[in-house]
Amino acid sequence: MTACFDAGLKPELLDKASFKFGHRLLDHPALSLESLSKVIPALPKQQVMYSKGLLSVEADFEGTFKKRPEDMSVAEVIEQIRERDSYIMVSQPEVDEAFKDLYAALLSEVAGALKKKGIAGQVLEPMLYLFIASPNSVTPFHIDRYSTLLMQFRGSKTVCVHPQWEPRVVSTENMEAYATYNRTKLPWSPEVDQLGTHWHFSPGEAVHIPFMAGHHVKNGPNDVSISMSIIFNTEESMVWRRALRFNYAARRRLNKIGITPSPVGENFVRDWLKSGVIRLMDRSAS
Ligand SMILES: [Fe+2]
Repeated sequence: MTACFDAGLKPELLDKASFKFGHRLLDHPALSLESLSKVIPALPKQQVMYSKGLLSVEADFEGTFKKRPEDMSVAEVIEQIRERDSYIMVSQPEVDEAFKDLYAALLSEVAGALKKKGIAGQVLEPMLYLFIASPNSVTPFHIDRYSTLLMQFRGSKTVCVHPQWEPRVVSTENMEAYATYNRTKLPWSPEVDQLGTHWHFSPGEAVHIPFMAGHHVKNGPNDVSISMSIIFNTEESMVWRRALRFNYAARRRLNKIGITPSPVGENFVRDWLKSGVIRLMDRSAS
């Protein structure tokens, strides 16, 4: 099986801090622009999201892809991506045969890294994402409800990753609303930007973005960027997700009696108890 990552992948830092490492998938045939221009148009329409024009760092990232341009097909966007500013995001390309072995190899290495970190259980909800974007494209500031290993295949980019659970980056209220799909747009400012680490990375390099850590991306000026991420949850991040749901549901009621729920991410036992309440509620509702 392909060895996907080098020794720079630090299991102990997963979902704690962002770090850069190397990947060994640079020459994988599935990731060439030629292969992608065959695979992507053949994928189910709902897995392929694209936009025209450059986005700004403070744009609504998830909201942008709810509307797709009506005057251009994805095949045309791929064809013109070098000359016309555009951005293509593809979820689950692993349903295509070309990505199957790559997906299996990545999944196996992520499972191995989680085992080394001491997290019990499976890699939960793993999925690949592809990003193909024109020179100078921006992925707006956002957080993700999962952990990410982002690999670069073509072009260069700068990824700014903020500390996880930092309320000066994303307030606890906004984080809870985002985690529960009640908000997709987060406030951003140049002051927020200064709290992040700017990773400059090029083909063959990868970066880890911890669960719910704010981030944004700017592509380099010289080439089309092709990158791919494997995203996943773990037993630990699912506890955090349910604890965030608990806080979102409880915040208004507790505020009425002068209590502010304690933020998620500070105390795992407390988060685990909150998660348990949500689990019980889910079970009794089903
Ligand atoms: Fe992201």
